[in-house]
Amino acid sequence: MAMYSNNRLQIGLFGANCSSGRAVTMVPERWSGSWADNRKLARMADEAGIDFLLPIGRWKGYGGDTDYQGATLETITWASGLLALTRRITVFGTVHAPLFNPVIAAKEMVTADHIGEGRFGLNIVVGWNEGEFEMFGVKQREHEQRYDYAQEWIDVIKMIWSDRQDFEFAGKYLNMKGIRGKPKPWGGTRPVIMNAGASPTGQAFAVRNCDAFFLQASRTSLEETAQRVARAKNAASQHGRALGVYTVGVITCRPTRQEAEEYYHHCIVEHADWSAVDRILAMKNISPETMPMPEFLAQRSGYAQGMGGLPIVGTPDEVADKLIDLSKAGLTGIAISLVNYVDELPFFCDEVLPRLERAGIRERRP
Ligand SMILES: Cc1cc2nc3c(=O)[nH]c(=O)nc-3n(C[C@H](O)[C@H](O)[C@H](O)COP(=O)(O)O)c2cc1C
Repeated sequence: MAMYSNNRLQIGLFGANCSSGRAVTMVPERWSGSWADNRKLARMADEAGIDFLLPIGRWKGYGGDTDYQGATLETITWASGLLALTRRITVFGTVHAPLFNPVIAAKEMVTADHIGEGRFGLNIVVGWNEGEFEMFGVKQREHEQRYDYAQEWIDVIKMIWSDRQDFEFAGKYLNMKGIRGKPKPWGGTRPVIMNAGASPTGQAFAVRNCDAFFLQASRTSLEETAQRVARAKNAASQHGRALGVYTVGVITCRPTRQEAEEYYHHCIVEHADWSAVDRILAMKNISPETMPMPEFLAQRSGYAQGMGGLPIVGTPDEVADKLIDLSKAGLTGIAISLVNYVDELPFFCDEVLPRLERAGIRERRP
């Protein structure tokens, strides 16, 4: 399984199940998010040795000129289809705990895991977007309670995946009797579990329950990133657990620095979907009223540039050097996005991956 390979820096693709992926841009070549393109991408990534595919659990688009992320493929069914088409790559489903009954979710995930012979992974999310919850007629809980609920949810799921049978669960939120679920996950293991909570409560949840944790890398200081990684790993080791620590990056890689910078500027400055960016900021309560203007403007361009992911722009040498630095900062892996994944992945794989292999942070490709 790719997520258990010896790659010291694992590389995944983030957001391909959504229209526009993670680039809030109007350029015509922006990502379609269609099944045909996802199928092509997954096969290409699997053959090139990419480690994982991480989708976004999104139910409603953000509007704007492009209805950014307006068309999305549901992630467990998306993962099931892609797992059937691939051989080694790990494929995640991103599951909103408050929206999925845990007994159904446990079985859907086991089904995906059998299709992929052990390659399914769970990204557990509690949700933050009120409008999405309204559409389900589900009331979003207060922030702390979201993770209390998620704790019960993941506890039940892990029990269903274990050898327990016909058990009861009497929690604060979940009250269930005669629970059983067969088959068990593939091969006597369980799917790899990740979470990306940013708050102290969200991070504590990840440390207690997950194998992989995603955090935001500093845009300005590698030292700061290294400290964040070390803090997360230390917190996990205090619980006697090993935690893989990952981050999110947005890559623009071209043969020359000038080409890379020009394309980056073209997509996400000149042709950014600013009306969508402003809607995203409003949902997150980021405005000149809630913070000083320079910080607001930095956040605004940060969201346009890959929704807060770390922008990595340059030649193959420069991109590889940045990834090597992130590995040195202690990161286990990075989930990257590209404006058009299928168009841009071959150049990345042909040029950047060999440099990472030569630097000793990735194995030679299959
Ligand atoms: C890599 C990554 C993937 C995420 N995927 C989703 C997602 O698909 N759906 C979602 O509602 N939230 C997603 N989130 C949001 C987080 O799960 C989390 O809610 C957010 O970072 C805020 O942290 P908090 O819940 O601790 O406040 C993601 C965050 C990251 C960094």
